[in-house]
Amino acid sequence: MKARIIGTGSYLPEEIRTNYDLEKMVDTNHDWIVARTGIVQRRIAGDDECTSDMATIAAQRALEMAGLTAEDIDLIVVGTITGDYPWPATGCLVQAKLGAKNAYAYDISAACSGFLYALSNANDFLMSGRGKRALVIGAETFSRIIDWTDRNTCILFGDGAGAVVLEAQEGDSGVLSCHLYSDGNYWELLHQPGFGAKNPASAAGIEAKLPFLRMEGNEVFKVAVRSLTKVSKEALAANGYTSADVGQFIPHQANLRILEATTKRLGLTSEQSFINVHKYGNTSGATIPIAIDEANRQGLLKEGTLILSAAFGGGFTWGSTLIRW
Ligand code: UT7
Repeated sequence: MKARIIGTGSYLPEEIRTNYDLEKMVDTNHDWIVARTGIVQRRIAGDDECTSDMATIAAQRALEMAGLTAEDIDLIVVGTITGDYPWPATGCLVQAKLGAKNAYAYDISAACSGFLYALSNANDFLMSGRGKRALVIGAETFSRIIDWTDRNTCILFGDGAGAVVLEAQEGDSGVLSCHLYSDGNYWELLHQPGFGAKNPASAAGIEAKLPFLRMEGNEVFKVAVRSLTKVSKEALAANGYTSADVGQFIPHQANLRILEATTKRLGLTSEQSFINVHKYGNTSGATIPIAIDEANRQGLLKEGTLILSAAFGGGFTWGSTLIRW
C-alpha cells in the first residue's frame, strides 16, 4: 500500500511583475537579478485574491484531474506561512470553499518546506488507514509580507499555489519515503518578526516594519545548498537508488544558483532537473507542487518515473521525498 498522487493542479495569479518593473521600485537591475537568482519575473496576487483563493483553484484543478469531487477527500493539509488570517487555518477556509464536508483541515507552518512537511503528514495519515484520500496544498501570498522598498528581499519572492490529490492504493507506486529536519537555532536568519505573541500589533511595530520578512540571504544560501544535497542523498540511499535512477529532480525553487549547485553536487544532469524559478520566483511552500503540476502537464512524469524532491526554508526546516509516479 502506498499514497499515490492521482491528480495535480496549480494556480498562478495573472499579474506579472518583471525585473524591469522592480528597477522602477528599488535600486536594482534586471541583469543583477538574473545573474544572482535566475529569476526573470514573478506573479503577484490581485487585490481581491488571497492564499485560500489560490489554494482552492489549485485544489479544484487537482480534483478534476483525479476525477474526484471535494466530498471524496478525507483530509486537507495546507503548507503556508502567509495564510489569509493568523487563524483560523487557511485549510479550513479552503475546505469551506471547496465544499469538502467530509474532510478535516489544518495548516503546517514550515516555510519553504511546508509542502514536503504537509505531504509527509498526509502520507502518514493514509498509511495509518485513517482515510483514503488527502489533498496536499502549498499556497503563499508572499507579496503581502514583502517590504517592496528592500532590494535584498523583494526581488526573490512571488505568489501562487499548487496541490496534489493523494490516494492510498495497493502497489509499488506512490510516496516511497519522507525525510524531514529542523534546526530552530537558525530561526533569526529567515523570519517575520510581527505581529504575534512576541511582538504584538502596535503603531511602533508598523513603523519598525515588523510585519515584513527578514532574511540574511548569504547565510541562508550556504546552509541551503549543504542541507538540500545531504537530505537528497539520504532519500536515494534509504531506497537503494543512485542519482542515475532519478527521472525528475523537482526541488524547492528559491534561486537558480542554489538549484544548480545542488544538482551538480548530486551528480544529476540538467535534463533530470526541473526548473521554473525564472517564471515565478520563490513562492515558498508553493514551489514544489506548482513544479510537480507543470512537469506532469508537460508529460515529464510517466508511470514508474522516480521523482526526487527536496526543500529548505525558514525555521530552519528542510526535507526530501522520493516518489514513484
Ligand atoms: O527559500 C529559502 C529562502 N531564501 C533563499 O533561498 C535565499 C538564499 N539567498 C540568496 O538567494 C542570495 O543570497 C541573494 C540572491 C539573496 C543575494 O545574493 P548574494 O550573491 O548572496 O548577494 P549578497 O547579498 O552577497 O550581495 C552582494 C551585493 C551587495 O553589495 P556590496 O555590499 O557587495 O556592495 C548587495 O548590497 O549585491 C548588492 N545587492 C543588490 N544589488 C542589486 C543586494 N541586492 C541587490 C539587488 N540589486 N536586488
